[in-house]
Amino acid sequence: MNKGAEVGRGKTKVLYQNPGLAETLVVVQQDSITAGDGAKRHTIAGKGRLAALTTSRVYRLLNAAGIPTHFISGGEDEDQNEMVVRQCEMIPIEVVVRGIAAGSYLKRNPGVKSGTIFAPRVVEYFFKDDARHDPQYTAEQIVEEKIATTHEVALMSDYARLVFDILAHAWRLQDVLLVDLKVEFGRAKSKDGASEIVLADVIDNDSWRIWPAGDQALMLDKQIYRNIAAPSASDLDAVKSKYEEVAERVGRFARRSGGFVSIIMGSASDKGHADKIAAALDGFGVPSRQNVASAHKTPLFALQKVQQVDNMLGRVVFITIAGRSNALSAFVDAATANPVIASPVLGSTWGGMEVLSSLALPGGVASMVVLDAENAALAAAKILAADDSVIFGRVVVKQYRNRMQIQESDARQNAPAGNGKAGA
Ligand code: C5P
Repeated sequence: MNKGAEVGRGKTKVLYQNPGLAETLVVVQQDSITAGDGAKRHTIAGKGRLAALTTSRVYRLLNAAGIPTHFISGGEDEDQNEMVVRQCEMIPIEVVVRGIAAGSYLKRNPGVKSGTIFAPRVVEYFFKDDARHDPQYTAEQIVEEKIATTHEVALMSDYARLVFDILAHAWRLQDVLLVDLKVEFGRAKSKDGASEIVLADVIDNDSWRIWPAGDQALMLDKQIYRNIAAPSASDLDAVKSKYEEVAERVGRFARRSGGFVSIIMGSASDKGHADKIAAALDGFGVPSRQNVASAHKTPLFALQKVQQVDNMLGRVVFITIAGRSNALSAFVDAATANPVIASPVLGSTWGGMEVLSSLALPGGVASMVVLDAENAALAAAKILAADDSVIFGRVVVKQYRNRMQIQESDARQNAPAGNGKAGA
């Protein structure tokens, strides 16, 4: 890639201007590996390439999930392992999320046993200053020293937790436990010229602890290097082989499972509701197909449709839209071993009762009953998220945004008079 002048350098990467695209930079990861705030340093030929593969593959998953990040493109071999990222003003704070007690947490908290599971996960901040060995900071200190605002600290903590959730899910699919993770953030210029907090810096095998099968002895990450005081050439080769394994495994992170939703409606008049569900599914990246089949009028045809869908490749969740009775949901539920979500149109009648709420429905007709089209889509996406980290990521990001909407509405209600009391 055509690179401009060097604009910055970290312990394991160099940043260049990008003459090809305004307000972006080119990141090149180096072959160096360091520990002890740079006191121990070695070169592993090819590590920069593996780090770029790992970072870009991690970021592809996070971008697909909807996390605001600096990553634009690149990192693969055909990109010469160079990445294009949004230019950011970096915030000099390392945000560490811990799911399991390990590393410096145990040193600082000698009463805590190694391997303790944290619920909720612990978020810690460290001010980036090698000379002072990256001292731990509180959120209040970060604000007090004007490193970031209260709102920015809250966003960094929220995003760091979401990133951990998503990466823990991706690793879990490979039976690997994500123990802890370090991330960093920057301020990037958004489209309207305002500043927005985005996940920045590299995320590679130096940034986390990962234990296959939850067994510390099987660790794949940089801790192996930290644990060897004076590594020999063969030790460094062994470290490199773990980095190779991790880069290859992370390549599976954003792989789609091929799961889909089959929407079966009892009548074409349910099409509006079906389209709403399909649109909401699309927001999660879940493909859907629609069929009209009546349990009353065309039972054999309905059965054939269910069997056709069951025989397709990829995990399926059915959503039935039954108009005048619950028969279609009960029929599909009995015909398939796959999950069935009944999403009747509000106001239709089931068993002679008008559907006013899911509580009014006779039970036992589907795996679950969800009235609202968006929630029916969310319920299906959650099931498909079990083996698809992109869908899982979109679900957790959507749930986070829903929570934020409520909190923002609450904040508006309690805003000083004249500041718009009519919150949603
Ligand atoms: O050493 P400590 O237990 O605080 O590290 C927590 C996590 O942050 C580990 O996954 C480690 O790899 C990562 N980390 C990092 N860069 C640092 C310090 C820690 O990526 N400078």
